[in-house]
Amino acid sequence: MTNFLGLRLQCRVPILVCVPSTSGYSKTVSRGSSRKWNGGGTTRASRRLVLGLGPSFLAQFMSMVGTVGGKTFIASASLKGASSVEEILKNAEWPEQFPFKEEDFQRFDESSDSLFYEAPRFVTHIDEPAITALTKYYSKVFPPSNSPGVSILDLCSSWVSHFPTGYKQERVVGLGMNEEELKRNLVLTEYVVQDLNLNPRLPFEDNSFDVITNVVSVDYLTKPLDIFKEMCRILKPGGLAIMSFSNRCFWTKAISIWTSTGDTDHALIVGSYFHYARGFEPPQAVDISPNPGRSDPMYIVYSRKLSRA
Ligand SMILES: C[S@@+](CC[C@H](N)C(=O)[O-])C[C@H]1O[C@@H](n2cnc3c(N)ncnc32)[C@H](O)[C@@H]1O
Repeated sequence: MTNFLGLRLQCRVPILVCVPSTSGYSKTVSRGSSRKWNGGGTTRASRRLVLGLGPSFLAQFMSMVGTVGGKTFIASASLKGASSVEEILKNAEWPEQFPFKEEDFQRFDESSDSLFYEAPRFVTHIDEPAITALTKYYSKVFPPSNSPGVSILDLCSSWVSHFPTGYKQERVVGLGMNEEELKRNLVLTEYVVQDLNLNPRLPFEDNSFDVITNVVSVDYLTKPLDIFKEMCRILKPGGLAIMSFSNRCFWTKAISIWTSTGDTDHALIVGSYFHYARGFEPPQAVDISPNPGRSDPMYIVYSRKLSRA
């Protein structure tokens, strides 16, 4: 399927899950050392679902695809010939103002995220080769395991963070929406349950983290600039932020500028968050896809907090 820009739509149809209601919250939990792993089971859900697409669904879909405010910016970047994820941020020419509009951050499903994430999903959201590629990437760029004073934050975390096996730091915080998932994440030393779309303020002190990760979830953030500014605030000078993404998503919960564009555009979108948040080095993109065309692609957009920010 192509969109109004002639770009391929690469998000696959999401798993749609109906969950009952719950409340909004922000909760921090510190973890003692005596926890037991319950097994949990990595059920791998089918990622394809045949939907009966009604006229209203299609109407909204077409309107989301055709009216996004960031289209001029993305189209002009594409026209400049950078056709790959690795190229798009090289010599990026950023408009003076953040090019995206409010409607670019709307979602097909605007109901509370706490409803959507109420039920735990003990699944993996990318395939094994993509996970392996991400873990390998982390092992190259993370501070060595057990480095004194090192703190890591995994944003939009779940029951897995894909860190290298046995990787440990004094403080590894996970922030996400589902407490059951976070409780089972063995790499975390503490976790926070918080809806970042309701409250983008990160509940941490200035200059407190060495690394921030976010795996296949940056597309669910409706206030990304606020969150990237917060990331800058809480990173130590020189601290590293690693945003990774593939071409899958919960389509109804991803922002419209994401669902209406492709992988290369996604790198530009995430790069723009770093750029306009200010306080970061120019963002860079890496394609770590393990078997292009044969398994899930995997991309990284990363940046470091300026040492003088
Ligand atoms: C596709 S899952 C990815 C989970 C995990 N990073 C992984 O790689 O398995 C999306 C995650 O984003 C988190 N998330 C989605 N919307 C969020 C929000 N509004 N605030 C905080 N976290 C959110 C959810 O908790 C969920 O775990």
